[in-house]
Amino acid sequence: MTLRKKTLLIIVVVVTVAIAVLSAVTRVVLLGSFAELEERQAHRNVERVLSAVADDVAGVDQQCRNAATWDKAYAFIQNANPDFVKSEIGYGAFSDLAVRRLNTEVYVRHSGEIVFGEGFDLAAQKETPIPEGLRDHIYAGSRLLAEDGASGIVRLPRGPMLISGRPVSTTEGKGPLLGSLIMGRYLDAGEVKRLGERTHLSVTLQTASQQISGQDGIRIRPLNSETVAGYALLRDLYGKPLLTIAVDMPREIYSRGRISVLYFEISLAVVGLVFGLVVIILLEKVILSRMTRLGADVTAIGENSDFSARVSPSGSDELSSLAVAINRMLDGLERSQYEIARRGRAQEEALAAKQTAEESSRAKSAFLANMSHELRTPLNAIIGYSEMLCEDAEDRRDDGVAADLVRITSAGKHLLTLINEVLDLSKIEAGKMELFWEDAWPAKILEDATGTMTALAQQNGNKLVVNCAPNLPPMHVDVMKFRQSLYNLLSNACKFTRNGSIRVDVIPVIANGAEAIEWRVSDTGIGIAPDQMDKLFRPFSQIDASTTRKYGGTGLGLAISQRFCQLMGGAITVHSEPGKGSTFTIRLPRNGKHGLQAEHPRPAAQPIEIEDPAELALTAPATMP
Ligand SMILES: Nc1ncnc2c1ncn2[C@@H]1O[C@H](COP(=O)(O)OP(=O)(O)O)[C@@H](O)[C@H]1O
Ligand SMILES: [Mg+2]
Repeated sequence: MTLRKKTLLIIVVVVTVAIAVLSAVTRVVLLGSFAELEERQAHRNVERVLSAVADDVAGVDQQCRNAATWDKAYAFIQNANPDFVKSEIGYGAFSDLAVRRLNTEVYVRHSGEIVFGEGFDLAAQKETPIPEGLRDHIYAGSRLLAEDGASGIVRLPRGPMLISGRPVSTTEGKGPLLGSLIMGRYLDAGEVKRLGERTHLSVTLQTASQQISGQDGIRIRPLNSETVAGYALLRDLYGKPLLTIAVDMPREIYSRGRISVLYFEISLAVVGLVFGLVVIILLEKVILSRMTRLGADVTAIGENSDFSARVSPSGSDELSSLAVAINRMLDGLERSQYEIARRGRAQEEALAAKQTAEESSRAKSAFLANMSHELRTPLNAIIGYSEMLCEDAEDRRDDGVAADLVRITSAGKHLLTLINEVLDLSKIEAGKMELFWEDAWPAKILEDATGTMTALAQQNGNKLVVNCAPNLPPMHVDVMKFRQSLYNLLSNACKFTRNGSIRVDVIPVIANGAEAIEWRVSDTGIGIAPDQMDKLFRPFSQIDASTTRKYGGTGLGLAISQRFCQLMGGAITVHSEPGKGSTFTIRLPRNGKHGLQAEHPRPAAQPIEIEDPAELALTAPATMP
């Protein structure tokens, strides 16, 4: 969902909810108070109707009082004079029944004996007998005959009647109580209609309902959206529920309230709509459109990978700070892009240089290998012929020539050694040196090496001591290369020691959890200064030029030996003290690269210590293969 849609949704939801809540509250509060107002008004109306009914009762009562407080009536109760009836009661009399709207008039003695009584049919303008059921309320001691009289409503078979009973007295209101006058008026449809006209309300009578409660016996109930009804209980003369008077009223207040609420809601909706629109337009102008533009700029930069482009910051708010930050990031990206490109170029150049160097190194090695090979053949011929000529000269006892030929032979041999060593080194560096693995007895190798070395040692007045650990099993090596390495260490020791001793120890060790054999060649010679140590294994390096002059050599021996031992999985290390002597140690894994070829019986070899080369043959292990 886009930010625009989200914002729109949020605004719509918020405004709708706000309007709904506001209008709900308004409905509850405003309509509630309108309903209260309506109820109060309805209540007043019902009270008005009730007081109109009471007025009617009071009207009948007043007529009754007037007629009863009269000397002639007082006399009539006593003598029942028929003239009185003729002149004062009924249609033949002077009284206007239509105006007075009376339906009955009864003169009763205190004992309950009716002196005279009749009914009036006001519609037919006829006199009738006493209304049916009225006699039930006239008896000695009844409320209507009470000394102070009574008025109210009673239920008769034809309908409810407003009734009044007043004691008859003289015009001055004196005289002992002899009887009472009773007057009544039916509360019929005409009367109810008249009530309605007087109160300007629609009034109906219903049978009494007990449901009408409340202090004043009035209950208000809305019938529908147009009409509200008020009910009041009418009680009879004896206080018993008689009728329910119902008043229907139009709900003017309430419907006016409803219209007001409706207007309020409509204006709320309009305000909400306008507010929402204004907010959306402002958001669009101030934020959304700028964000869209920023997004489009950044996308374009990303798609084209053009980190030299920049977004355009507008205004001075968070969005423009964001644009500035993006530009700063683009600066960084541009710089690193440039840096990466530069490094890539440098790497390519370095790679090309490396390849060139490797190629030239290979070419150099190949050249050396070829040259050494081409040199060796004529050199061997020179050595061979010079030896032959030397023998001839010796036979002829031509000492001068022989001495020269010996020099030629020795120079040729030195050159051959040099060429061989150069060949070895170039093969190693070209990665073409092949190893020929085989199993060999250390004691046997030692014997071969010391055999040839003894003479060399004696040249400088040195003593050679050989010490081999007993029971050394065979080791897996390239015997030729190992022998060459050992020979080189021994020859160096002999070369750099005078009138001292040279010692060889062969010791089994465990190195890095694997079986290994160490060959230690120690001498008591000139030793090596600590700062010269790192030169030792560099090709063509001798410690100083004077050494070369004094002791000869090429400076290649140690370099080649070290590389041979490394090819066989081992190494050469040195300990030396100038003036005291040196110890060169070759350590080789016993199992070489491929492990031993077969199980060999262990020889019962004893440690050998050889001082005289003649003893060697005697002490060599007898079980050696
Ligand atoms: N046992 C030793 N005592 C003193 N110096 C030694 C010994 N072995 C080697 N060196 C020094 O190391 C140099 C290099 O030896 P090497 O590589 O065998 O070359 P070369 O024997 O042809 O001189 C020697 O010239 C010498 O200076
Ligand atoms: Mg040497």
